[in-house]
Order: sequence, then structure tokens, then C-alpha cells
Amino acid sequence: MRLFPVRLSNITKMLDMYSQFNPSPLSIKQFMDFGQNACEKKSFIFLRKELPVRLANIMKEIALLPDHLLNTQSVSQVSSWYVQSFEEVLEFEKAEPTHSNLEKFCNTLVHIRNRHSDVVQTMAQGVIEMKEHQGGPVDCGMESSIQYFLDRLYMSRISIRMLINQHTILFGQFPNEQGRHIGCLDPACQISSVVRDAYENARFLCDQYYLISPELEITEHNPHDKANNPIRTVYVPSHLYHMLFELFKNSMRAVVENNDQDKCEKLPPIKVLIAEGKEDICVKISDQGGGIPRSQTDQLFKYMYSTAPQPSKSDLHTVPLAGYGYGLPISRLYARYFHGDIVLLSCEGYGTDAIIYMKALSDEANELLPIFNKTSSKFYRATVPTGDWSNQSSDMNARQLNASAPKRYNDML
Ligand SMILES: Nc1ncnc2c1ncn2[C@@H]1O[C@H](COP(=O)(O)OP(=O)(O)OP(=O)(O)O)[C@@H](O)[C@H]1O
Ligand SMILES: [Mg+2]
Repeated sequence: MRLFPVRLSNITKMLDMYSQFNPSPLSIKQFMDFGQNACEKKSFIFLRKELPVRLANIMKEIALLPDHLLNTQSVSQVSSWYVQSFEEVLEFEKAEPTHSNLEKFCNTLVHIRNRHSDVVQTMAQGVIEMKEHQGGPVDCGMESSIQYFLDRLYMSRISIRMLINQHTILFGQFPNEQGRHIGCLDPACQISSVVRDAYENARFLCDQYYLISPELEITEHNPHDKANNPIRTVYVPSHLYHMLFELFKNSMRAVVENNDQDKCEKLPPIKVLIAEGKEDICVKISDQGGGIPRSQTDQLFKYMYSTAPQPSKSDLHTVPLAGYGYGLPISRLYARYFHGDIVLLSCEGYGTDAIIYMKALSDEANELLPIFNKTSSKFYRATVPTGDWSNQSSDMNARQLNASAPKRYNDML
């Protein structure tokens, strides 16, 4: 997208201004409280400032990327989407909250969400283009700057989509068709039912690929509920589904590949434990897929780290079981977005436990947002992190690429 100089200087000015504000993180409780007494005018007034602030914060970081990444065709494309969306929201900066403006605003948000739906794939493509252009391996400092940036870009994107989804579902075309849901939040999300959905869909892919798949065993543990009711929490089901689907695909692949099918033995099941504590709700997925060597654990959450063959580009119709190396890092962002986490523990030779942590209390589940400030630029200077025994896994920050999520989860991501 070519920008005329006047327009460009105006955008630069607005970017400078909006990036000086810090984004305002919301908790799940705040999302719920707001949604229960939803007022479109209030939401409009909040978002017409908050969206440009979040966009400007991340656009400032895009601008700090090294030229040979920034100038790739794909990254320029992503960058131009952000400029366009930023401009479109700014059109409402001084608009009166009339009925017609509120309707236009809602439509603009839907357009922005659609425009940005391919950011993850396009950005990944940009990194590939940079590597191809360079011809050799990227140095370690550069690699960790890219990792740092992608975590922040994708986290910012998750948060912007959450705000847009809440507004467009609450005030869009079909506001009365939500059932108990408040926007994309389910106030009584039954975890085991999301586990089953994710398992069934991962199993479908696994059967397609290997003609076999492991069974599922679920156990629930809630020490505070003698009646043993299924554990429920306030959460975004599409986020939980995304994480579980990715973890199931990984476990299934490991289980099938690690077990000798010639012996005609039954595959060991994947066991899921759902536990509710005072602070956390944990979902542990345990497989007997042979585990991961300790030397690889630092790599697991790196973008593009995969031990699977690269999925074929020509076969656009089948969703691969593995191969992009985006499953774990993006899932962890979804968990961290509301101050949860994903941790993998492995016993090489036996299997892996993947644990999803979610905050049990909705007022503690605050959005985790990247904030741009003067020190941000230091992470983009190619420095090699110093090896230090005290921080062995240097973790600078807390995709399914359009895989087949059921409709009720899909449009929220
Ligand atoms: N449960 C597991 N057992 C054994 N290895 C695992 C397990 N989970 C992840 N891994 C290893 O971690 C790597 C990275 O996983 P990740 O989900 O990020 O990418 P992927 O599965 O290769 O590709 P995709 O982006 O399609 O998910 C995998 O390729 C695999 O080597
Ligand atoms: Mg995976």
C-alpha cells in the first residue's frame, strides 16, 4: 500500500500520540460485568480509544523490525493491514454516537477482523521469505528477537480480536441469539465438554492420517464439590478449544508414531485430568508417546520448531496433523492471555504431560498485554542472550492455521 506523504505524516503523528498511552487490560470479570449490562454507546467510546492504542503499541514494534524482515513482501502486507485498520478506527475519533455511526462502527470492526484473519500465516511466510533471501541460517540474536516480536504481535492480535468479538457479538446483527453466553465468554463453560470436542476433532485428523487413534479417558477432581458435578468456569471456550486441540494433535501423533502398530497392540489412551483448586483450574493431558528429550525442551515453544515433515503446500484441502511448529507457542499465548499458562513435562522413553493452567477466579484473569515503551527497541537489536546457569531456558515472554474447529469455536479466534 503506497501512502501519500501528507497522509503518511498524519498517521505518524497519530501513531506517536496513541502509542504513548498504555493499553488498559481488562479482566474476565470486567468483560462479564460489562456484557451483562451492555451499553453500545459506552463500548463504542471505550473502543474508539482503546483499539487505536493497542494497534499503535504493536505498530511501533513492527516498525522496529530489522529491514530485511520488514521489507519482505509478506511483512509489508501485514504492516499495511495495520495502517489501514488504524486509520479506519480513527475515523470515529470524534464521531457522535448516533445510531448510524454505531452501526458503521460495528461494520468497520467486522471488516478489520476479516482483514487480519491471515496475520499469523502471512507473518510466518515473511520469516520464511527473509530466511530464503538470506540464504543461510539466521543468527541466534536475530532468532530470539523474532521470537520475542511474534509473541507480542500475536498476543496483541488475540487481545484486539477479543475486544472486537465482544462488541460485534453483543451489538451486531444477532444480539439475541447468544443463550447463556456473554459475547464470546461462557459463564459456565463445562471443561470436559470442550475437552471431548477438541479430542474428537483431533482424532478425526489422526484417523485420516494414520488410520488409527488413541482413546480418551477423562477424570475430574474438585475437592470442594462433594457431588462431583462437572467442573465449570467462566472462560472463552474457543480459546480453550484451541489449546486442547493443539495438545491432542501433538499427543496423538506421538502416541501413534511411538507405538509399533505391527504388534497389533492397543494404543495407550490419552488421559486427561481436570482439577479445580482455589487459584487455578488445571487440565493435564498425559500421553505415552515416548516423551521429548530434555535437550529439545527449549525449542518446543519456538515458532517453526517442528519434528514433523512440512505439510504439502499443494494439498490445500486437508488440515495437517502437525508440521508448522506454531501449535505450542500460539496455544501458550492463549493460556497466558488471561494469566494462565501451558507447561510441558516429559519423561523421555515414556510420555509427556501437558498442563493448561487457567485462573480459577475471573477477577484475577486479567489480560496480559504487550506495551510499547522506550526500552522495547533494545530487544530488537541483535544481541545474543548470554548463557547463564540460572536461566537455562531463556524465555523472554509469556494455530492452528485455520484447522477445522467446530463452528461454535471457530469465529471467535
Ligand atoms: N506430546 C508430545 N510428545 C512428543 N513430542 C511432542 C509432544 N508435543 C510436542 N512435541 C514436539 O514438539 C514439536 C513442536 O510442537 P508444535 O505443536 O508447536 O508444532 P508441530 O506439532 O510440529 O506443528 P503444528 O504447528 O502443526 O502443531 C513437535 O513437532 C514435537 O516434536
Ligand atoms: Mg502441534
